[in-house]
Amino acid sequence: MNIETMLEEALRPVTDSRVKDAMTYSLMAGGKRIRPNLLFEVLKGYGVSEAKGIPFAAALEMIHTYSLIHDDLPAMDNDDLRRGRPTNHKQFDEATAILAGDGLLTEAFHVASSADVPFEETVKAIRILSSMAGPDGMVYGQCLDMNESANDTYEDMVKVHKYKTGCLLSAPLMIGAVLSGQNEEIIEAWHQVGDMLGLAFQIQDDILDITATAEQLGKSNSDSRNEKVTAVTLLGEENARRTMADLYEQCRKAMKQFGGFESASLIEMIDQIESRMK
Ligand code: IPE
Ligand code: IPE
Ligand code: MG
Ligand code: MG
Ligand code: MG
Repeated sequence: MNIETMLEEALRPVTDSRVKDAMTYSLMAGGKRIRPNLLFEVLKGYGVSEAKGIPFAAALEMIHTYSLIHDDLPAMDNDDLRRGRPTNHKQFDEATAILAGDGLLTEAFHVASSADVPFEETVKAIRILSSMAGPDGMVYGQCLDMNESANDTYEDMVKVHKYKTGCLLSAPLMIGAVLSGQNEEIIEAWHQVGDMLGLAFQIQDDILDITATAEQLGKSNSDSRNEKVTAVTLLGEENARRTMADLYEQCRKAMKQFGGFESASLIEMIDQIESRMK
């Protein structure tokens, strides 16, 4: 699947404007494309055509990109660099960056709703997208993340990580299961795997924030400037690394246990994520 082409196609019908330019600027700036790839890997593992997942994969990356644009705003993490480029509000202006986020979020649902799959599956997938992205999901996590006074224990951190990062990693796993005709129990089991993956991934993000340079990451490493409570401030780097490795291992184990699911390719992707340097 060529994800770059898929994303270009998703934005193509949008009316030309400054906000479209800003949406395109951040969406087409690269990025690891982990969320669409997770969805495609679940489909592949269940033997379902990847093409079935395209509108949802595009929607996921659009929602994720919106979350990054807003996360970088002066009112949030106040960062200058993202995906190797000036952040959206630095390249354009704050109002345009807010609108670019709004535009990507809203257009994501337009794209998802035009999927050529059975109506019931489309509605189920859209419900997952909205609940994982919204005020019961990623937005809730970002809200907790901004409220530092309430984030001083390991349990608090697990909760913030689960919502701000886990939810948008659970969504592709769950939608992949929906499009593969899996039942509610299995969809919920994929949700749990996404929670673990999200915690591992965000602990790794916290570690990279202090161990890699902004140039290597292609984004500002601002956690210490923003006095964030992170996995590293709470556990120390060594312990954070051990916890992360243990969680990735639990993810791999869980992925092997799904009936009728060929997990080798997805597990290979998890290995690549675990060894990422950015
Ligand atoms: C960054 O996500 C935000 C977090 C949830 C840590 P990614 O690390 O997937 O960012 P891109 O998409 O590759 O830029
Ligand atoms: C943000 O976490 C996660 C979301 C955007 C939902 P971070 O603030 O740690 O992400 P980075 O480090 O800026 O990518
Ligand atoms: Mg943040
Ligand atoms: Mg940030
Ligand atoms: Mg971070």
